[in-house]
Amino acid sequence: MCGIIGYTGSRPAGPLLLECLRRLEYRGYDSAGIALFDEQQQLYLARAEGKLDNLANRVEGRLPPAAAGIGHTRWATHGAPSDRNAHPQLDPSGRVAVVHNGIVENFEALRQRFTDRGDSFASDTDTEVLAHLIVDALDGGADLADAVRRVIGETEGAYSLVAITVDEPGRLVAARVGNAGGIVVGHGEGGADEQFVSSDLAAILPLTRTVTFLGPGEVVDVRADGVTLTDADGRAIERAPEVQPFDPVAAAKGRFRHFMLKEIHEQPDAALDAIRGRYLLDPPRVEIESFGFDEARVRDINRVVLVGMGTSLYAAMIARHYIERFARVPAEVDNASEFRYRRPVLDEHTLVISVGQSGETVDTLAAMEEAQRAGCAQLTICNTPGSQATRLADSTVLIRVGPEIAVASTKCLIGSIIALHAAALQLGRLRGVLDESTAREEIESALHLPAALGEALLLEDRVRELAARYAQFDDFLFLGRGLSYPVALEGALKLKEVSYIHAEGYAAGEMKHGPIALIDERMATVAIAVRDEVREKMRSNIEQVRARRGPVLALTSAGDESLEGVADDVLVIPAFDGALAPAVSLIPLQLLAYHIALERGADVDQPRNLAKTVTVE
Ligand code: M6R
Repeated sequence: MCGIIGYTGSRPAGPLLLECLRRLEYRGYDSAGIALFDEQQQLYLARAEGKLDNLANRVEGRLPPAAAGIGHTRWATHGAPSDRNAHPQLDPSGRVAVVHNGIVENFEALRQRFTDRGDSFASDTDTEVLAHLIVDALDGGADLADAVRRVIGETEGAYSLVAITVDEPGRLVAARVGNAGGIVVGHGEGGADEQFVSSDLAAILPLTRTVTFLGPGEVVDVRADGVTLTDADGRAIERAPEVQPFDPVAAAKGRFRHFMLKEIHEQPDAALDAIRGRYLLDPPRVEIESFGFDEARVRDINRVVLVGMGTSLYAAMIARHYIERFARVPAEVDNASEFRYRRPVLDEHTLVISVGQSGETVDTLAAMEEAQRAGCAQLTICNTPGSQATRLADSTVLIRVGPEIAVASTKCLIGSIIALHAAALQLGRLRGVLDESTAREEIESALHLPAALGEALLLEDRVRELAARYAQFDDFLFLGRGLSYPVALEGALKLKEVSYIHAEGYAAGEMKHGPIALIDERMATVAIAVRDEVREKMRSNIEQVRARRGPVLALTSAGDESLEGVADDVLVIPAFDGALAPAVSLIPLQLLAYHIALERGADVDQPRNLAKTVTVE
């Protein structure tokens, strides 16, 4: 959710923090702020409601020379978006400044404690109590790192923070409490005495690739010439920094108007990256370099539970088919936020597969912790190396599609589907249940997927035309069956996320059981009726909508003309056989959502109320 950045070193901190905040803005854009030490070593604070540009305009020409400071982009939880609720938050005397991501659950009780003794509060945030608590501890003789550790003991909830104090300009202390978002420290390159602290690896990678990730319950004391890592009780932790790869091109918008469009167009290459080296012919097989389960462990599994949120949940729903089809193990899917609250029955014979772009979604991490307590085997499908999900799981299959910046996930879904398909094939092979001809068909079709995705992108002009007409509707149904059911859910999610149009995805067979009551000439239906074993049933569902005067846009596969004249509009997508077919259907739906959003003048890359990484429950 919120983006956090801190710097200490010898470079001008203000411009550097603003530069990093640009790369963090996708995490939240309700407000932004920075705190620096000015020439008198006093705190210089600047905050502005709304996008980062508002802050940048406010500080232009006014930034004091400073060699340390902190910055924040906010996704509001406690208190409306406003200047006074923006971070950094200060204590009343201006001695301490804090940026924070996540939630302090007992903040009301803590706040009461301070107001009872006469302290005033300047914001509605839970963050502000952290500044009060730190000053309290400093007043009691603690130094900044001890004060932060003491705060961890007094607070409930999951969050991360970075704190600074005028007592020691140039020192930052950061902590990760639970699983509400990570903290990564970037160390100065080439022996430079400088350090960065951030919620996101991507924010600091252009500045340094040598980093240390914090685990839950860890505190890092950061000075320009070095860092000290401890647990919440102050016990030293030795962890060697790691070097992360960085591709400067991947994080730039290039010739595209929006990151979302760029990432949609990157999908053929992203699919290639996801497949490369893993799908092998002669003999046909999948080999995932990091697959951490041997034959004996895999044969011991009698059930698979897939968890994720949002788009990643839909990837998991598609993968349920893969696991059952190729690995012949009973599989179920759970919304990660519901999973742990229904006391799931789990044991060491259960394989839990979590799916996520960020590897930091708090609900998914909580589900993983539940699985860990029950002794399950855990595999995570993740796009972010070093993220908490990769640390919790026994084994990780990296999605390998490069950084995804747009809030609306696109290429990561395609990559997740491929990674899950590969994992299911590998499980099937290790369990000895995958026959050679199925393996060959799936591997050959996977190798053809990047080309099919490229062909699907050629539909953009036609989709743009359709978008111009369909943008007038305020309500949409997306219908699909089988593997296309999660595709329908994703089509609806993409549309509502970026265009703010009401859209619902349904299993097409469910339509008659209620949603059909909504259908009239003002409710548009998008039906995914591609070539598969349930296509004829989709055709009947389309007829049922048309009989009630509902306009229908149908997706069909090349070579199938039977829906001409049945649906109002037909979008013919490349025919694709094999279990990866949903990836091909997704491209026109992503483009449809994108172009309808443009028609409606919506802010495609930073849709209102959303955040890229959801680190609060
Ligand atoms: O990082 P994750 O994949 O765990 O994130 C899960 C969801 O928050 C995410 O997919 C969300 O639904 C996207 N905005 C969808 O476009």
